[in-house]
Amino acid sequence: DAEKKEVVKASIRGVPDFPKKGILFWDVTTILLNPTAFQYTIDLFVQQYKDQKVDVVAGFEARGLIFGAPLALALGVPFVPLRKPGKLPGPRISEEYVTEYSSDKIEMHEGAVLPGQRVVLIDDLIATGGTLNAGVNLIKKVNAEVVGAGCVIELPFLNGRSKVTGTLGDDGLFVLVEKEGA
Ligand code: PRP
Ligand code: MG
Repeated sequence: DAEKKEVVKASIRGVPDFPKKGILFWDVTTILLNPTAFQYTIDLFVQQYKDQKVDVVAGFEARGLIFGAPLALALGVPFVPLRKPGKLPGPRISEEYVTEYSSDKIEMHEGAVLPGQRVVLIDDLIATGGTLNAGVNLIKKVNAEVVGAGCVIELPFLNGRSKVTGTLGDDGLFVLVEKEGA
């Protein structure tokens, strides 16, 4: 696992001054260009969640969809997209949140997650934790349970972890790589 993490870590690119001057952006598209690194990323998530009786994987638009969907397939459970406003066609429920750069909203189709189901949330990166926290709230709104949140990258200096572990417990957040930023 340590070896797989190193391969994943080495395949992430830091882009300075994106999307704003002074922000170092951790770009996961370079993981996707490397099938071995992409496979290892999914392997590590599968390893973490395969014995946790997961019923549903939910992934955050945009990059959480890329990692969440293959995890759901590997676990043999449904995948539910958590999307930006106005993207989902059916009846939906929403939750507002604040990110590193903006204030926004995520939406989920009504009935996609059922009461009592055990849900894993997946995203590419946790910064302030606002996005993940909104996901936790959304899942709770439908009386389902969040068994954990998994991210490829954590930015520990932004302290998003404490926001999420406050509700999910100390083991509630699983990350593959820690990165600094500015
Ligand atoms: C980024 C990143 C996470 C979120 C993390 O997404 O992909 O989803 O910010 O920030 P937080 O922990 O402070 O909430 P962004 O909202 O920029 O949108 P995108 O994934 O659609 O590009
Ligand atoms: Mg995102």
